[in-house]
Amino acid sequence: MAKKKSILDLYQMKENGEQAVWIVLYDACYASYAEEAGMDMILCGDSVGMIVYGMNGTVPVTMDVSIAHCQGVRRGAPNTYLIGDMPFGAYHASVEDAVRNAVRFYKEADVDAIKLEGGVAVADKIEAITKAGMVVFGHIGLTPQSSASMGGFKAQGRTTDSAKAIIEDAIAVYKAGARVLLLEGVPEEVCAFVHKILPIPVYGIGAGADCDGQVLLAADALGMFKKFTPKFTKKYADIAEVATAGLTNFVQDVKDRSFPAAEHKYKISGDPEEFQKLFDKMEAEFKASEE
Ligand code: KIV
Repeated sequence: MAKKKSILDLYQMKENGEQAVWIVLYDACYASYAEEAGMDMILCGDSVGMIVYGMNGTVPVTMDVSIAHCQGVRRGAPNTYLIGDMPFGAYHASVEDAVRNAVRFYKEADVDAIKLEGGVAVADKIEAITKAGMVVFGHIGLTPQSSASMGGFKAQGRTTDSAKAIIEDAIAVYKAGARVLLLEGVPEEVCAFVHKILPIPVYGIGAGADCDGQVLLAADALGMFKKFTPKFTKKYADIAEVATAGLTNFVQDVKDRSFPAAEHKYKISGDPEEFQKLFDKMEAEFKASEE
């Protein structure tokens, strides 16, 4: 089994020009598959709200939900670098809230880093969490927690004004002490520029290839989520198709009584006649109690 990575390994990979791969997932079962596949990092993302709970966005996700899912992921992938995702509201009101909630991820879910969305506007929170000794991953560009103010889940940085704001955010996140930057939903030119100027690892999701590694949601990459597939996703499996076919077969097997078959049943141990006597006696007693 490969050794669990540290933040220093991520920097070494950048130095070596080796791409890092992370996946977003929310439970022990898929986390164990990711660890077996040799994933460098797992993000237990607040997209859990949409993928697991059927919400329309990530805003309603709470700290307790995020922590519970992170704990499951950690149990399933004890040797993989794990990032906890600070949900909306966990770091917006104050620096104190931000530090307290980041600490919860470390103490209760054994994470290696926390991620939060935003640039210039949250730089004070990034600085405080970093000063408290934790590793912060910044996340800018298309930030789902602010999709309402962006007018939906829309790519950012496509105009010079918007690109300038993203570059300013990237610099603010770096200067505040974030050790890693994630860019989501931006043109590859903008990502390439940020990657060129910043000394920290810069990863992308829907941000092109010119950076230090790639992130995808397992739900998209494995074809689990049927409602919507982002343009930037590549589908590596079709779990929805396999799962629907399997469940259809289960329904059919039970309806036509071909399941359970002999191999799925437990056997009595002992004399069948003794069992029959027991059943007869208990049936008689039951009937008498009903009269
Ligand atoms: O929660 C999530 O899925 C994320 C990814 C979009 C990076 O934050």
